[in-house]
Amino acid sequence: MCGIVGYVGTGKATPVILDGLARLEYRGYDSAGIAVIEDGVLKVRRRAGRLAQLVESLKLEPIEGSVGIGHTRWATHGAPSEKNSHPHCDCRGDIAVVHNGIIENYQELKNQLEARGHVFKSETDTEVVAHLLEEEFTQGAPSLVEAARRALPKAKGAYALGLLRRQEPGVLVAARLGSPLIVGLGSGENYVASDVPAILSRTRNIVYLNDGEVIELTPTAWKVTDLNGVPREHPVSRIEWSVDAAEKGGFEKFMLKEIHEQPRVIRETLMGRISADKKSIQLKDMNLSVEELKSLKKMFIVSCGTAFHAGYVGKYLLEHFTNLPVEVDLASEFRYRSPKMDKDTVIFTVTQSGETADTLASVRAAKAKGCKVISICNVVGSSIARESHGVIYTNAGPEIGVASTKAYTAQLTAFCLFTIYYGKLTGSIPDEKAADMIRQLEGIPDKVDEILKDQAHIKALATKYAQAPSWLYLGRKFNFPTALEGALKNKEITYTHAEGFAAGEMKHGPIALIHKEMPILCIAPRGETYEKMTSNIREVGARAGRIICVATRGDADIAGISEDVIYVPETPEEFSPILCVVPLQLLAYYCARARGCDIDKPRNLAKSVTVE
Ligand code: AGP
Repeated sequence: MCGIVGYVGTGKATPVILDGLARLEYRGYDSAGIAVIEDGVLKVRRRAGRLAQLVESLKLEPIEGSVGIGHTRWATHGAPSEKNSHPHCDCRGDIAVVHNGIIENYQELKNQLEARGHVFKSETDTEVVAHLLEEEFTQGAPSLVEAARRALPKAKGAYALGLLRRQEPGVLVAARLGSPLIVGLGSGENYVASDVPAILSRTRNIVYLNDGEVIELTPTAWKVTDLNGVPREHPVSRIEWSVDAAEKGGFEKFMLKEIHEQPRVIRETLMGRISADKKSIQLKDMNLSVEELKSLKKMFIVSCGTAFHAGYVGKYLLEHFTNLPVEVDLASEFRYRSPKMDKDTVIFTVTQSGETADTLASVRAAKAKGCKVISICNVVGSSIARESHGVIYTNAGPEIGVASTKAYTAQLTAFCLFTIYYGKLTGSIPDEKAADMIRQLEGIPDKVDEILKDQAHIKALATKYAQAPSWLYLGRKFNFPTALEGALKNKEITYTHAEGFAAGEMKHGPIALIHKEMPILCIAPRGETYEKMTSNIREVGARAGRIICVATRGDADIAGISEDVIYVPETPEEFSPILCVVPLQLLAYYCARARGCDIDKPRNLAKSVTVE
């Protein structure tokens, strides 16, 4: 989730761009850069690290000009470095590009362009756009905006782009497909940005570009077309948000914004990893050979907190669909017990931050025993990502809320991808089944969207139950970890005691806890353990527990044994954890809100636990 700012006007571009980039800090970044046309020369300055480094450099050596683009990078392809930071240029240094998104077919395009003599300087997907534009000018494109219209249909994936060309000093071009980009209309100057906060101090008059559109801006005019050059009309919207509200996209808290980002995040985690024929999965950062993967005899999934719950779902998936024995362990325990590991053992770690001390220590302990390490991680270039042999990145963007939500569903998505990938590789998942799983997986984001539309019902339930003194969460099989995760979401932001249990475990003690003030959250979607789950629900109901069920839409029976029901769309049970957790995230959120808790920064908690 990078940050883009562009300016064209009669004033100085550099301060406007730097101020805008600073206001996008919540989008996270590991490097930053700017390109400005100064006296007919396209000048580019880039720095790894925080924005301050770039600001300092520009103080020492200013770049003066009235049109420019800037970028803060959240790395997805290529580690954080000056070489990989944006803007990227063509061979001649005439064109500069900043980009947010993923060009899925960049390697194919890069190969074609290199074959035509283009020289690349970075490891990024973005750089191909600069060379594609250069090619269009070689073929006679009359202008930057026309070159963009001709070049962009070749790029597959998602992009929000800011473009400059030395020969067109009074022009700023932008385009979007699948990544956010807005246009700000000022007085004698105009702007583009990834998000409203970047330009709110300059203007409240905003134009929202649609996917597949290109805009050409000058200081006093703007024109939107589609990629065929057909003009597109757009209303000008007036933004009334405060800057703080704008950083949260109009949501009251980052956690709520991130819960609502999940459909997009799941799509972006799938993006570029499903083959064109939708029959196989490609995981390019795996860095283990087919032989190494096929020779695996054992897997340990090791992580902490929410990531541990994701790993637990991963265990159920891998044991259900492959022949690999899988153990899960808390990283804080794993490193102190004596697990039997050798070169045919793989350690799978799951981590949003990539910096959790216990997880990092487990990675090092496993490598010391000759094990391979694969990590599911959200931060490119983080310690755990760097020290793992293979990485599956979750393209969730920075997660600001301490309580993990979008990172969790992205981790589950990554496990679904790996399960299909490994199952096909080892022959345990037939081709037809794999194709069906891929089709079902691609339908998940829309189903999450449907659940989010039911938010008012969940908010009403929170009002009803928020003051409960303690909660139980019950689930079975794939959704036993969902019960653990739902309880964690609740306890960490409402400060209420909440425990997750395997539903079958109730009779072995926990059922003694039930009392009439206690909500029992039962995760009971259709599936192999549905009947067992409903008998557990009846047992609890007989003891006056207040039952709230998460169930499959259309299941009328469940309502007869529950006080309240939250329905989720039908989906194969192996993918149901991604859906069933969303109501639990929202329920915890609205309970915390009703209790007046500090939701984004809960007491005693840190976003990344880098100490043991
Ligand atoms: C979950 O909401 C918490 N933020 C916490 O349990 C977190 O999942 C855990 O600390 C692991 O962090 P990581 O994913 O960055 O390694």
